[in-house]
Amino acid sequence: MSKNAFKLTLYVTGSEWTYNWARVTILLTVEKHSKIFVAGHLGLAGSAIVRELKSQGFHQVLTKTREELDLLHQEKVNAFFRKEKPEYVFVAAARVGGIYANSTYPADFIYENLVIATNLIHAAHENKIKKLLYLGSSCIYPRATAQPMKEEALLSGPLEPTNEAYAIAKIAGLKLCKHFYAQYGDRFISAMPTNLYGPHDSYHPENSHVLPALMRRFHEAKEKRLPEVVVWGSGTPKREFLYSDDLAKALILIMNEYESQEFINVGSGIEVTIKELAETIKKVVGYGGRLIFDPSKPDGMMRKIMDSSKIRALGWRALNSLEEGIAKSYASALEHRAFQSENGKRHSLNSFSLLKK
Ligand SMILES: NC(=O)c1ccc[n+]([C@@H]2O[C@H](COP(=O)([O-])OP(=O)(O)OC[C@H]3O[C@@H](n4cnc5c(N)ncnc54)[C@H](OP(=O)(O)O)[C@@H]3O)[C@@H](O)[C@H]2O)c1
Repeated sequence: MSKNAFKLTLYVTGSEWTYNWARVTILLTVEKHSKIFVAGHLGLAGSAIVRELKSQGFHQVLTKTREELDLLHQEKVNAFFRKEKPEYVFVAAARVGGIYANSTYPADFIYENLVIATNLIHAAHENKIKKLLYLGSSCIYPRATAQPMKEEALLSGPLEPTNEAYAIAKIAGLKLCKHFYAQYGDRFISAMPTNLYGPHDSYHPENSHVLPALMRRFHEAKEKRLPEVVVWGSGTPKREFLYSDDLAKALILIMNEYESQEFINVGSGIEVTIKELAETIKKVVGYGGRLIFDPSKPDGMMRKIMDSSKIRALGWRALNSLEEGIAKSYASALEHRAFQSENGKRHSLNSFSLLKK
């Protein structure tokens, strides 16, 4: 019998009736005193999860910086799980980047993301933790899939070549969760968020995602009083964005209420053209120059949005509008001097002491 199977014993007029329910699922509710490990807590998603856990009153949140625990080392990860015995794990640690970083360092992206997922998931299995939530990404979906992208579209066609290495590692991570769930009854589940932004994003000039990259460019243009900012492409492709604090609320809900071997999409439904995105950032940053599009540069996919019916059925909605989220992100980036660091690397923002254990 699997460790998640339950045995129901009935006594009827003196005789004993036993019925084994293989894999009867009951929901585990994370208690306020539960030990929760957030892997990748200094990052965009991880820091939001820690903020939200703390604001909801969870008071045993475990965190480790890369220097304290390099997740690429299986033995160190095992030793950490044996010693600290976390009950719940959020896997928000990963090597992450925009198109340039993904296409320039594919070997690093596939290797590091595979190893981080394997080490954490295997240590969670060996140490019999109660539940693990793994974060994937919308790039797992085939390049030419129908929009909005439904969970069933996974592996139904070729991937986008520019982030194939990253996507393969993310698919392996979600499949690890699925198969440990199927074979051992481990409650390892996965969520696929849409494009994220928020405090503690990376503003690296080359390696960051489109929203923080544009924010940096408008901010620098404002500081240097440049007359115009040129944005690549026609400005017409549509993208979906989710503020990281809204993601964190969704993930805690999923940890409490979602029980399935099948992963779940997390999208805001907030879909804008790149032109609308650039205009919103320009307004929030307060840049007074011109915004110009260069249609000779590639546009990429014309539309990319998640079908998030499953998470909506659980009662979750994104609360922040795009403008509100961008305003909060810009305020945080200014506070942490994110645009002044040499290379835009986030961990130069280590005034984040609140989150350190
Ligand atoms: N950003 C998005 O738009 C987006 C969209 C969809 C899904 N996601 C998913 O969400 C997850 C988190 O992404 P994110 O944007 O929050 O990434 P992020 O901001 O780059 O944060 C990743 C975190 O992982 C840590 N980390 C990486 N390698 C490590 C290692 N070997 N040992 C210990 N820690 C390590 C990083 O530590 P350092 O601080 O030391 O670098 C960082 O704190 C990823 O799985 C990603 O696929 C992100």
